[in-house]
Order: sequence, then C-alpha cells, then structure tokens
Amino acid sequence: MATMVQDVAAAHPVDPLDVSRAELYAEDRWQQPFATLRETAPVYRCEHSDYGPYWSVSTYKPIVEIESLPDVFSSEAGGITLADFIESDVRMPMFIARDRPVHTGQRRTVAPAFTPSEMTRMTADIRARTAEVLDELPWGETFDWVDRVSIELTTGMLAILFDFPWAERRKLTFWSDWAGDIELIKTPELRRQRLEHMFECGAYFQGLWNAKLNQPQTPDLISMMIHSDAMSHMDPHEFIGNLILLIVGGNDTTRNSMSAAAYGLDLFPDARVQLEDDPSLIGNAVSEIIRWQTPLAHMRRTALVDTEVMGQLIRAGDKLALWYLSANRDRSVFGEDADAIRVDRPNARRHLAFGHGIHRCVGARLAELQVGVLLEEMAKRRMRVNVVAEPERVAACFVHGYRSLPVEISRY
Ligand code: HEM
Repeated sequence: MATMVQDVAAAHPVDPLDVSRAELYAEDRWQQPFATLRETAPVYRCEHSDYGPYWSVSTYKPIVEIESLPDVFSSEAGGITLADFIESDVRMPMFIARDRPVHTGQRRTVAPAFTPSEMTRMTADIRARTAEVLDELPWGETFDWVDRVSIELTTGMLAILFDFPWAERRKLTFWSDWAGDIELIKTPELRRQRLEHMFECGAYFQGLWNAKLNQPQTPDLISMMIHSDAMSHMDPHEFIGNLILLIVGGNDTTRNSMSAAAYGLDLFPDARVQLEDDPSLIGNAVSEIIRWQTPLAHMRRTALVDTEVMGQLIRAGDKLALWYLSANRDRSVFGEDADAIRVDRPNARRHLAFGHGIHRCVGARLAELQVGVLLEEMAKRRMRVNVVAEPERVAACFVHGYRSLPVEISRY
C-alpha cells in the first residue's frame, strides 16, 4: 500500500495550485493558493488531483458568467461537487443537481416554504428557540459553541421545517454529516456506509411521509411536497434525494455560519465592538459573516459543449469547480480588506456564498433569518463569545466549516 501511494506521488507531484486538497481546509491554509490563482490564473486547469483533472474558477466575474449559462454548464451531467458519480453507486437525484426543465418544477414546489411571509411566520418560533438555547449556556466556563449553539439551533430549525419528531432531531445532524462530506466517498467501504445511512434516512422520512399522506395540508415541507404536482409523483430515490438536499442544504451551511459568527468576530475584535455598539448593523453583519465564511467552498459544473471562459478553452465533459470561497475574497469586488470581517461593508450582500442564477440558494432568507436572530438575541443579553482555543475544522473542500469551537461567554 505504502509503495502504491509513493508511486502515485512520484508519477504526479502535488500541484501547489490544487485547491481540492483536504489538508488546506483542515489546516486553514487555503488563502495563499487561492490568492495566487486569482492573480495569475483565475481559470486554471489542474491536471492531477484526488478528483481527477478539473478547472478551478476562482474570481467573481467568471463564476457569475458560468452560472448564468445553465444550458452550457450543467449541474446534472456530473453532479455538484468535484467528486464524480461512480457508476455502481445508486444515484439519489436532487433538484440542485438537475437541469431545466425538471429543476424548475421541483424548485417551485419547495420555494413557497421560504417566502418573506413564511419567514415572518417562523420568526417568533426561531426567536423563542434561540433564546432558550442561549439561556442554557454556562457563563465563564469553556464549552463547544458548535455543539451547544450552532448544531442545536440549525437542527431544531430543520425539525420545525419538516415537522420532525423533536426528541430524535439529532438524527438530522448525523445524516447531514454523512451526506455532506465528500471525503467520505473516497473508499468503497465508506461509500457503502454512507449509502446505508442515506437509505436509513430515506426510510425514516418515508414513515413521516406515509403518516401525512391523505391528510389535510400542513405548513411543513413534507406536506408541501405531498400536495404538489412536481414532487408527489417522484420515485423513491428522487424523494430521498430531495429530502437529503433540504437537510444538508439547511444544516451544515447555517451551522457553519453560526460558528463563523463566533469565531470570525473574535478574530476581528474591532468589528465585534462596532457591532456591539450599534446593533442596527446586524443585518449587514449577517451577510458579511456569510461572505467571510462561505460555508460551501464550491459548486461544480460540467461543460456540455466546447466553450471558452476568460480565454481558456473548456471542452465538453470538462468539470469546473466554482470556488465561491475565493470569489468572496476577490479584491476587485470587495476591496483590499476582502479577507477581513467588516460589519459595515457596503457591498457585503453581493457575496456569492449562496451561488448565482437559477440554482441560487432557495433557503437563503431562512439562513439569514436564523443567523440574524442569533446575533440579536446575543445583543439583548450583551453576550460576547471569546474563543479559547483554535477550532477543529472540517477537512474537505466542499463544506467549509468547524467541527468544534471551544469558547467562553462573557458580558460586555
Ligand atoms: C442551493 C449555499 C442555507 C436549501 C444552494 C447553493 C449554495 C447554497 C451555494 C447552490 C447555488 C448554485 O448552484 O448556484 C447555502 C448557504 C447557506 C444555505 C451558504 C447558509 C448560510 C440553506 C437553507 C436551506 C437551503 C437554510 C433550506 C432549508 C438549498 C436548496 C438548494 C440550495 C434546496 C438548491 C437550489 C436549486 O438548485 O435551485 N445553497 N445554503 N440552503 N440550498 Fe442553500
């Protein structure tokens, strides 16, 4: 085995601009290679990586251009992460990984769950849950912010959205972690285990679905899906796929934004004091924190025809990683201090963390609402989160976030 690894390494020395390497994220060392890519090769072909050859798109403009051409750059042909589908895998189609016209109908089904009026309806619930979680935290004692706050709040929110049994809500976290970690599909054994958990998740939701069948419509997502044309006739794989999409979409991402709110503001204490002094900046700070964190580092597209992007010839079948993480640090858009958190950044909302175009995150408002309510409730309690040790980070190039974050809270 050791010889095999050495042989591979000898055949292909590591490309320092291969930004798909998990260790860059585990060790928080992705900033420099992306800065080099943005400066020297914003559309760069990486020949050798764990995921095979791929194009890295690392600046703002070409990402917007590519996402504006969904008929040329497909989400369906090869999926939405750098990891390819494996022929022997059972596919679980999700509308994030479908092209038009299927995407349009399925997205339309869940979109009503995220309208501004639905957000208003949910605000009181979210606020009450957030207050409860914050009021249980110990003052002046070290605890894990990820577990006690970020996971607890996002999982509770999903349980409400799905009308999921409350006592079992951590199952959502478990399934989401397995579904969202692309490092977990690198060996056949891990792929097998992952699939097993996804089916377990599917079977559980099938039970919830059956219980709501032939019942009057309720304002949760399962009921909404049952009562819609586009979703109600899906085959079981498609049904499971779309549920998993909503769980992962809503879980890891919002969780890591909440962890970033604690970690990032501690890293930029002047921004924190400015926010503490002026809570009217919270709305903008939410966008800024999501920009700075970028909880999904990339989405992938596959070219359907030969085409050109910024002078580079992309061949039909080539895969492209759209690095939102890097575009959100693009100085030509966000200025020289793009790497910093600036709670009054005038164009924080222009970030690409939610993507762009027809697939732009359908849950963006809900995510912003949850992070905003968290910051508001912290402000009401004059709660400051002090990081006491470096976080443990997710070792992957897709979900960009934290496994644990030791903190202490104090009053300001
Ligand atoms: C799509 C990020 C929260 C559900 C996406 C995309 C990104 C993203 C990058 C793909 C965009 C593209 O391909 O152009 C985020 C971030 C979040 C967040 C950073 C939190 C800060 C949520 C929440 C939900 C959700 C709370 C639902 C509960 C979805 C769904 C899609 C999606 C269903 C697929 C949309 C489509 O293909 O049309 N999200 N998301 N997301 N997200 Fe989110």
